[in-house]
Amino acid sequence: MNLINSKIPNKRPFNLDEIRSDFPILQRLVNGKPLVYLDNAATTQKPDFVIEAIKHYYDFENANIHRGLHFLSEVATEAYETARLKVKEFLNALSASEIIFVRGTTEAINLIASTMEKAKMLKPNDEVIITNMEHHANIVPWQLICGEKGIKLRVIPINDDGELILDNFEDMFNEKTKLVSVVHISNSLGTINPVEKIISISHKYNVPVLLDGAQAVSHQNVDVQKLDCDFYTFSGHKLYGPTGIGVLYGKTKFLDSLPPYQGGGDMIRTVTFDKTTFNDLPHKFEAGTPHISGAIALAIAVNYLNAFDLNDIIQHENKLLKYATKELLKIDGLRIIGTAKDKAPVISFTIDGVHPYDVGTLLNNDGIAIRTGHHCTQPIMDRFKIPATARVSMAFYNTIYEIDILINSLRKTISILK
Ligand code: ALA
Repeated sequence: MNLINSKIPNKRPFNLDEIRSDFPILQRLVNGKPLVYLDNAATTQKPDFVIEAIKHYYDFENANIHRGLHFLSEVATEAYETARLKVKEFLNALSASEIIFVRGTTEAINLIASTMEKAKMLKPNDEVIITNMEHHANIVPWQLICGEKGIKLRVIPINDDGELILDNFEDMFNEKTKLVSVVHISNSLGTINPVEKIISISHKYNVPVLLDGAQAVSHQNVDVQKLDCDFYTFSGHKLYGPTGIGVLYGKTKFLDSLPPYQGGGDMIRTVTFDKTTFNDLPHKFEAGTPHISGAIALAIAVNYLNAFDLNDIIQHENKLLKYATKELLKIDGLRIIGTAKDKAPVISFTIDGVHPYDVGTLLNNDGIAIRTGHHCTQPIMDRFKIPATARVSMAFYNTIYEIDILINSLRKTISILK
């Protein structure tokens, strides 16, 4: 039995002190103060189970996969493929071969854009529907393909609360519409999008749907069969796993119809100087030596999360969101950008007369980590006519006490800056 299966913890109660002690970094000081980490939309911290899994892999299992008959190669291959199975169960995909390991959400979307172009499923002047709240990773890959003419991006607008306006969504479809590619949960606004509705309307017009799940997988259950999305992507490092590993899920019929993304070892069946034939799914899309330890550690992160009742996580995160929103709104001149009814624990805000960068810098002096800037979503900033926001993004290990520290520090910061 490999590490992934042997490390399935028993069900655990939602005990915040115990959870926090699983994350070594949460015990450290920053600028002499206990770290208050509120930048979880950028990346989450890692529990020691994940950190140890990486060390364990290099201590005991390191070898290349799918290539050797020797003991270690078999152990590493089994661990890597078990990781794939774990992710398959996590997303409730139909088959493990629908799970492609990639570097992250960005690479997954680039893979789809590039291979759809190669397969001529996207041609110059074709159209892809996105939304006004996409991360740059779901805008720029579409702009990089199809040469000078490019493809046309049709953009679902958002209202002042940061919710999608779907009233005219059906009018956006025509014979040139080849894909709908939307973010499941906005990294800047926290909006949880009505993706079921988007998928069912898109399928009415026979248009496949890709969901950018980078911010969603850590905050809610994702069942790709129930959603009936055609592609789903996420990054391991936003799910308490390592950086450099992520997942592209695709329905077999679509993945089968797309050509390889990159050429190299492991993605081939036969190679001559005249012709190459390609391996089956998922290997067709995994050229070269993959991030083996990353995939294994990601599966350990999934195991770790599965030990908790997801409802406890959601309930706690909602409590943090509600409390932080209430306390932030008591501050004079503070405006929350993103007030959707359905929200993940992400709060972007501006304060009259104070630049977000100054807020971030002064909070940092108190050991508080938030993100400031455009959060790789410049079109959202344009929509709200602001250059930047300060963003507090929470995870299930954050506490009400930390929100109080944030609010006190923020009040102090404002009194210094104004
Ligand atoms: N996309 C990440 C964020 O929202 C990096 O901060």
